[in-house]
Amino acid sequence: MNFNVSCLKRPITDSVKASVVEDLPEINDITDANLRQKVIDAWAYSLCGSSFERIRDIPGEGNPGIFTLKRGTQADHLRAVARNTLNLVDDFVKHFPEISIDRDIVLTGALCHDIGKAWEFDPVNLKRWATDPSKTGQPSMRHSVFGAHVCLVAGLPEEIAHIALGHSTEGQHIGLSLECMFVRTVDHSWWDLAGAAGLLLPESMGPAQKMTRPRALKPRQ
Ligand SMILES: [Fe+2]
Ligand SMILES: [Fe+2]
Repeated sequence: MNFNVSCLKRPITDSVKASVVEDLPEINDITDANLRQKVIDAWAYSLCGSSFERIRDIPGEGNPGIFTLKRGTQADHLRAVARNTLNLVDDFVKHFPEISIDRDIVLTGALCHDIGKAWEFDPVNLKRWATDPSKTGQPSMRHSVFGAHVCLVAGLPEEIAHIALGHSTEGQHIGLSLECMFVRTVDHSWWDLAGAAGLLLPESMGPAQKMTRPRALKPRQ
């Protein structure tokens, strides 16, 4: 099967763009108006090339079937990574004002680091790859690689495409920017901490379960 990855499944509409900001309200904290608009455009492009209507429809998982949240969606993960990365950056800057870091790139990168998940988690793609993995692989490319593609197609700067690619295991093969290192570190830590706090399905934790003793959750009010 020759699948055209650049082909959108549906037109990009204003309502899709509005849903991106509803699901990721931290977009409004990006100070550069052009960057802010490009994040919306890029997420809308990613969603409209997939079967997902909006970001909060994408499952709350690290990879399909791995690190699965008992409750919450991909939007919860993205927003948490954005908030926590900024908190960490602000603490560094407060106590070490001599460091130089681009806060807008950090926030944009955090909100876009998993932008390729609409592709990697798309049930249509998962089924297609499972049908004959020998043809295009399984997956043909992970969300980090496809995410870098989306960022570049949507006109986001190289720094953001680098974060989309480098936040994940592919980042082991390249030199990482300071902003990417912050997003990557918080992203990985967030999944580890979610597991330790008992927020992940135990069967989804794989080898990570070895060093984690998940705590029981309190009953929800
Ligand atoms: Fe990721
Ligand atoms: Fe992530």
